[in-house]
Amino acid sequence: MLLNFSSLDSLSILSCRRALCNNLSALEDILKDYKNYLIKYSIFSTYCIDSIKMKLKIIDLFAGIGGVRLGFEKAAKKKLIETNCVFSSEIDKYCIQTYITNFGKTNFYGDITKIGSTENIIKTIPNFDLLFAGFPCQPFSQAGLKKGFNDTRGTLFFWIEKILNVKKPSAFLLENVKHLKGHDKGNTLKVILKSLRKNYYVPDPEILNAKDFGLPQNRERIYIVGFRKKINDFKFPNLKKIKTKLGDILETNPVKKYTISSRLWSGHKRRKIKHRKKGNGFGYGLFDKNSQHTNTISARYYKDGSEVLISRGKNKNPRKLTERECARLQGFPDSFKIPVSTVQAYKQFGNSVPVNVVEAISCEMINYLEAQNKKSKVA
Ligand SMILES: C[S@@+](CC[C@H](N)C(=O)[O-])C[C@H]1O[C@@H](n2cnc3c(N)ncnc32)[C@H](O)[C@@H]1O
Repeated sequence: MLLNFSSLDSLSILSCRRALCNNLSALEDILKDYKNYLIKYSIFSTYCIDSIKMKLKIIDLFAGIGGVRLGFEKAAKKKLIETNCVFSSEIDKYCIQTYITNFGKTNFYGDITKIGSTENIIKTIPNFDLLFAGFPCQPFSQAGLKKGFNDTRGTLFFWIEKILNVKKPSAFLLENVKHLKGHDKGNTLKVILKSLRKNYYVPDPEILNAKDFGLPQNRERIYIVGFRKKINDFKFPNLKKIKTKLGDILETNPVKKYTISSRLWSGHKRRKIKHRKKGNGFGYGLFDKNSQHTNTISARYYKDGSEVLISRGKNKNPRKLTERECARLQGFPDSFKIPVSTVQAYKQFGNSVPVNVVEAISCEMINYLEAQNKKSKVA
């Protein structure tokens, strides 16, 4: 139905109708009509209407528990953009359990390396706008590099590359450990960028730290973004530089099981002295509510918790972080459900991403896509 907006001031008609209608779908119809009217008579730029109506389909590879997806969805929500995750891939059954508990039924695929041929990728993965992947870091063949070609075969990155080449989405965001930059003397990143830059505008990757985005954790990660079309230089988000304090995410009176045993505590102290004698700074990290941030939590945190111990006062054994505190350190809201065991939860949050950083990058990516959209409408 295309309403006739031409004889009256369109905005007043819209607001009248808005006042009259009492359900969202009626309002959506009106917005659709209004947008068609604007396009038909080229009255204004359609940009602001597009922002309201823009829908972005995404896929979430190496999805873990969905930290990347959560960050993107938070950014999109702020910008009133609807999102639809049309495909997620993850092999770990416990991660899948947490993911489905929090995001609901999703089009889930297991091992992405089993997706196989181009035909199967076309058939299995619905079309989408953005690809997200926090993939494990692996070296590429030296032989391939010496022969002057990018041999990414046999690596997990190969599947990201293949899906991008087959499905050609508008943009992507890849996340990895900071160490990717120097991995294999810089060759791994060089091969990744060379391959991605064949079909995408890929600015130099950025290393961002969770502590600069409001989280009390020192966690540096490398972020790689790409866009099919370049309109101008993409700018990674400015650091928020919010002063963080560990006390803001600590639980009050966590149960006894988190306090480490005297045997473990003595071992930690012994090893620290040994490291110190050798002149290095390794060993446990002890923090309290006044600390600005912790060390990086890792998937191994469940083992002895040495990277982040919380002081319980003088002459008392320190404790490990609770699962909820790990979630908070990564920017997961308290509404995020933890349906798995403590060990699995530590592994999952340790492997995940700082949601706040992904949210900030996603905001910039959405701005970039909107500007692209606006430019192509005007052209
Ligand atoms: C670094 S974690 C990514 C975490 C995720 N970004 C998040 O926010 O939770 C990498 C994930 O890739 C998964 N993975 C590894 N190999 C895979 C494969 N062949 N297919 C699908 N997922 C895989 C691992 O189980 C792990 O959860």
